[in-house]
Amino acid sequence: MLTTFKAYFFILSIHKLLAITALPPSHNLFINCGANTPLQLPDGRSFLPDSQAPHSSFSFTPSSNNVLSSNSSQLYGTVRVFTQPTEYKLKVGNNGRHFLRLHFHPLSSSLFNLKFAAFSVTADGFTLLHNFSCSRGVVKEYVVEVGLGSLTMVLAFSPSHGSIAFINAVEVISLPDLLFPSTAFPVPQGPAIDAPIGAVLETFYRINAGGPVLDSRNDSLWRVWLNDQEFLVIPSSARNVSTDPNAIVYPSGVSEEAAPGLVYATAQEMADANVGNQKFNVSWLFDVDSGFDYLVRLHFCDFVSIALHHLIFNVYINNQSALNSFDLSSKTMRLSTVYFVDFLVNAEFGKVLVQIGPPEISSTPPNAILNGLEIFKISDSEGNLDASSDESSVIVMEGKKSKRKVIAIVACLGGVLVLGFLVAAAFLLCFRIWRKKATQGNATWLASPMPISINVGNSETRVSAGSFASSVPSHVFSQVLAFSEIREATKNFDESLILGVGGFGKVYKGVLENGVVVAVKRGNPRSQQGLVEFRTEIEMLSKLRHRHLVSLIGYCQEPNEMVLVYEFMAGGPLRKHLYGSDLPALSWKQRLEICIGAAKGLHYLHTGTAEMIIHRDVKTTNILLDENLTAKVADFGLSRLGPTLDQTHVSTVVKGSFGYLDPEYFRRQQLTQKSDVYSFGVVLMEVLCARPAINPTLPREQVNIVEWAMHWQKRGQLERIIDPHLVDSVSVDSLKKYGETAEKCLGEHGIERPTMGDVLWNLEYALQLQESFTREVRNESSSNCIPELPEWIPPVRHTEYDSFSNVNADVSDTATSSRLFSQLMDPKGR
Ligand SMILES: *[C@@H]1O[C@H](CO)[C@@H](O)[C@H](O)[C@H]1NC(C)=O
Ligand SMILES: *[C@@H]1O[C@H](CO)[C@@H](O)[C@H](O)[C@H]1NC(C)=O
Ligand SMILES: *[C@@H]1O[C@H](CO)[C@@H](O)[C@H](O)[C@H]1NC(C)=O
Ligand SMILES: *[C@@H]1O[C@H](CO)[C@@H](O)[C@H](O)[C@H]1NC(C)=O
Ligand SMILES: *[C@@H]1O[C@H](CO)[C@@H](O)[C@H](O)[C@H]1NC(C)=O
Ligand SMILES: *[C@@H]1O[C@H](CO)[C@@H](O)[C@H](O)[C@H]1NC(C)=O
Repeated sequence: MLTTFKAYFFILSIHKLLAITALPPSHNLFINCGANTPLQLPDGRSFLPDSQAPHSSFSFTPSSNNVLSSNSSQLYGTVRVFTQPTEYKLKVGNNGRHFLRLHFHPLSSSLFNLKFAAFSVTADGFTLLHNFSCSRGVVKEYVVEVGLGSLTMVLAFSPSHGSIAFINAVEVISLPDLLFPSTAFPVPQGPAIDAPIGAVLETFYRINAGGPVLDSRNDSLWRVWLNDQEFLVIPSSARNVSTDPNAIVYPSGVSEEAAPGLVYATAQEMADANVGNQKFNVSWLFDVDSGFDYLVRLHFCDFVSIALHHLIFNVYINNQSALNSFDLSSKTMRLSTVYFVDFLVNAEFGKVLVQIGPPEISSTPPNAILNGLEIFKISDSEGNLDASSDESSVIVMEGKKSKRKVIAIVACLGGVLVLGFLVAAAFLLCFRIWRKKATQGNATWLASPMPISINVGNSETRVSAGSFASSVPSHVFSQVLAFSEIREATKNFDESLILGVGGFGKVYKGVLENGVVVAVKRGNPRSQQGLVEFRTEIEMLSKLRHRHLVSLIGYCQEPNEMVLVYEFMAGGPLRKHLYGSDLPALSWKQRLEICIGAAKGLHYLHTGTAEMIIHRDVKTTNILLDENLTAKVADFGLSRLGPTLDQTHVSTVVKGSFGYLDPEYFRRQQLTQKSDVYSFGVVLMEVLCARPAINPTLPREQVNIVEWAMHWQKRGQLERIIDPHLVDSVSVDSLKKYGETAEKCLGEHGIERPTMGDVLWNLEYALQLQESFTREVRNESSSNCIPELPEWIPPVRHTEYDSFSNVNADVSDTATSSRLFSQLMDPKGR
């Protein structure tokens, strides 16, 4: 239908915040930009005009004579145009992951030709689009986590130099918590690794294999699923099959939002090649941006088999094995049942090739299926999804620019002692000016990171503060909090709220204005040692987000105050659960899971970021537990970057905790990630024996846990000294594996010790052994069959996420090149 719409161009020439409150509070937010009346679409979405936003604080002028014709949905009849950097502050109803959809439809008029608009878009500091232009309508979909510390998402548009920015519509859709994976499988195969928490994803492809295009009307989250035909490498190798969508079963633990039944009710299977020995792969090829990691989700539902265990096939991604002799029905234990699995893939060559085919040797008829597929791009370690230059993550603000210059100057001159004083003075002056500007300007936007202001007035720290700041990543997750806010949150640092006291200072429990419970660490401002550690901690934690690392929510940077605000860990330190308190004893399984969690956190530190990070103070008081006993590694005050490629170690003054120190590091003062592995070995022994690393009250040979435990481990009698609570509930095999792992960690020389990745693998194996032991005991079966190695096929998880709508989107068009390389998650380490 040809329809003529009036397009209103609203121009905002002043840089302002547009505040929009979600109505209803629950949840989804649909904004029809530039409109002044609400718009109800047939698919149920109800778009509010941004001009009627309750707290809007801007003015605009509709320009007349901008009549144009468009076939597109009414949504694109209006557009909002920005000539200056502008933000939407989107208040969401709940925290957690959200779909963020941005609709761009480049209308043109006598006033503007939006096809020539070039601009950048960021969400909460993540660069979604950089110097972006489009010549046809595009819908971009992202998955953004909102609410670590606030329930506001800041969506900022910033025109490239001399250009304009525009947006037609914005959708923010709250996703069920469980919709998103917490772990994914690497390709080539390896143990499951944690999916990147805190990263932003961009939907690249969403495919309904063997089925029709599904649009926003067919999907409860208004996603669009495309047909797979054009991605098939050899279309004749596949044959589409379908069943009744009502016959599809969602097992418990799998959300119906994973994908509509319509996706699972159609599939591609292997076409009948009319050959006796039917062996070939069905392949799909997708173009992506090279150098990024991708989350590839495959959806399966076996409605083609006549019985269980009749469909066994291989899956390859980029020519590497992803699933081997995969027996789909063994995962679901019934037919027509939904199953999906996530993989992490580094698309080195800008392609994702997905292949399915029969295994080499098989007793079942050769066949393989695929029902649906989604590919998401994962933001790199700098928080960019679309980065082509250094500046990409920073929308240029005057204040920031001048600050950068100052820092550069300071860093250059820093070494010249004679000039030291002058530099410091100049720095201080400029900094003050900058700070004034920054606070007057747009405070939210600058929530990114200025740790440099800590105690800048202190003469001993000026220059180092400057060079420190220049190394701070341009994108930081945590926010700057006002001291008054923190005082309020902790009832003026009420003594009754003290959670603990450490070398750095006291830790309080607090509740932020928005109800988020936090742990507030307040340093002693007079301690120089503390200052360095404070900065290290901000620098390190700001760059890191991981399920098994304690998140930094914010920090306070007012003079003479050093305050760090973390997520609150209800379970407290691991040590408390082992001994010295009246908490119930942890079971062996719980202990293994806690060690696995902590190992994952350390593994991520060692291999998950561009620069290796060494924790340097791994111990049971630095492993915290949340209310579900999920372990998170804390306290990065001593951590530092590991050796670069051409170094084998970092020389440093020995720091760490007595009893946990790597003897090699102690002797040679050379720090490697293997020092953390040693300390982790001590933790493993402590967890097993439920006693402190050093206990001077014991007989001499028992004082040091390492000596004592190794004495028994070497004799193969470690069970003699384990926590009495564990006796009788621990599988001998599991204990053996665990003991061996700890022994290897405690190797005299770093080179003999395993990597954290290996440790993790071994602990997971020990857990597996324990679980099968428990099962056997429960079944009272005396069979002594020990399960095989974990086969790396994920169980149906209580996670998933999905959805997207890609109206008129030219998918390959969305690919923009990027060179930044994210090493997010190589499980093998490097
Ligand atoms: C609008 O619709 C007409 C006829 O249906 C088609 O020829 C034309 O290409 C469409 N224009 C756009 C911009 O989609
Ligand atoms: C932005 O993109 C345009 C072309 O789309 C290009 O001419 C221009 O140089 C780019 N600007 C920057 C800063 O990358
Ligand atoms: C299924 O295959 C048939 C014949 O090969 C084709 O006509 C039809 O369009 C296909 N359906 C889909 C949804 O791809
Ligand atoms: C998708 O929804 C529309 C509108 O309800 C419907 O006409 C169409 O048949 C649906 N598509 C499928 C494949 O069921
Ligand atoms: C997979 O292997 C084929 C043949 O060896 C090669 O042409 C292709 O580039 C490879 N694809 C990827 C994504 O590695
Ligand atoms: C299927 O693809 C994989 C990976 O590209 C390859 O190793 C295998 O040989 C292929 N199988 C057949 C039967 O062609």
